[in-house]
Amino acid sequence: MSCKVIVGAQWGDEGKGKITDILAERADVVVRYQGGSNAGHTVVVKGETFKLHLIPSGILHENVLCLMADGTVIDPECLAGEYNGLRERGISCSNLRISGNAHVIMPYHRLLDGLQEEARGAGSIGTTRRGIGPVYTDKVARMPEPVRMWDLLDADVLRQRVALQLEQKNLLLAALYNHPPMDVKEVVDEVMQYVPVFHDCITDTRTLLYDKLAEEANIVFEGAQGTFLDLDYGTYPFVTSSHPVAGGACLGTGIGPTFIDDVLIVSKAYTTRVGAGVFPTEQDNPIGDLIRERGKEYGTTTGRPRRCGWLDGVALRTAARMNGATGLALTLLDVLNTFETINICVAYRHGGTDYTLVPANDAVMHEAETVYEELPGWQEDICACRTFADLPPLAQAYCRRVAEIAEVPLYLVSLGPGREETIFLNE
Ligand code: IMP
Repeated sequence: MSCKVIVGAQWGDEGKGKITDILAERADVVVRYQGGSNAGHTVVVKGETFKLHLIPSGILHENVLCLMADGTVIDPECLAGEYNGLRERGISCSNLRISGNAHVIMPYHRLLDGLQEEARGAGSIGTTRRGIGPVYTDKVARMPEPVRMWDLLDADVLRQRVALQLEQKNLLLAALYNHPPMDVKEVVDEVMQYVPVFHDCITDTRTLLYDKLAEEANIVFEGAQGTFLDLDYGTYPFVTSSHPVAGGACLGTGIGPTFIDDVLIVSKAYTTRVGAGVFPTEQDNPIGDLIRERGKEYGTTTGRPRRCGWLDGVALRTAARMNGATGLALTLLDVLNTFETINICVAYRHGGTDYTLVPANDAVMHEAETVYEELPGWQEDICACRTFADLPPLAQAYCRRVAEIAEVPLYLVSLGPGREETIFLNE
């Protein structure tokens, strides 16, 4: 048995979908534990591209049980669309199970996310506008009781919940945004049209998971977003509203931390960020542009161009500690093929101190000067390499240095989107 958590070590988009898909080959269960359709996981199988937002990346493996656990938030329209889209492409989805306790993203959550962002103007977070913040806000507020997946199984219960929710939401819409009220029947009808698609998947995923643990199954927990988007430990307030860190796998599924054997942190060979917020190694210049073009750095969910920069070794080492990492997956190494020299940030310099871990006081990250180490680039195409020894010595040296800075053993290196473009270090 093994329980492995896959976590983004940066600001999301690290290539977790591909890694999950590969590890799912040897897994019995893949579990999404937080977030919702704000995620965008791209998996390429035999040249065919699958873009998943909600459904775990393990779904492409027929025999893998895929769970969307209690800590996720689910948009019925998005779920139905993704489910139907996969079925049309020959993926059965028969092994998908969704927690009845997961909270439902309702049309008013999406609306509020957009209105709140507009109202913030220049100070906006740059959310995906998928209703993530508003649905988690309702979850924490508790009253009136928000809609959970169980409630979709009974239209009367759903109607009661929506009526109580809209009593408050309509006041908010009018007072803060001068927006017309939403109608209970319209909201209920809109949501209920999607329910038949996934009705039979709604169940008790927690007990299912306990049963699988008892059977000594191999379980992969698939994190969405990344460490620095964590509500508590990210670059607040420019974060998401859930817990992408490895500890979130316990909170989001109902298992204790002693069940987790391994934590694989996933980092690009450089850094990207979508939306607003601090980004010390950002290269808002031709270097960043080149990374964006070579790495096709445009959002899977929103299509927005991603901000690009050098690898932030300070953030990476911090992510390793925060997640209790046991292995490092370094992705998109091939994007750096053409660079003559490559920088890695090894310290934040602030007030006469060099910080090699991100300090809790976020002023340091905002104001610090970045201290870089310059490494020579390998300047050749590495996409055909299949073992670590195949890589040019300078590329090997880069990978080793990154692992050294992270203080985590290198587990794999990814050189492209395909399953075969992956080098495992322990094989
Ligand atoms: P939200 O999760 O939609 O509320 O967005 C909050 C912040 O997290 C914004 O900066 C988003 O761009 C960012 N974000 C949310 N999901 C992802 C993701 O899957 N990849 C990268 N950034 C994300």
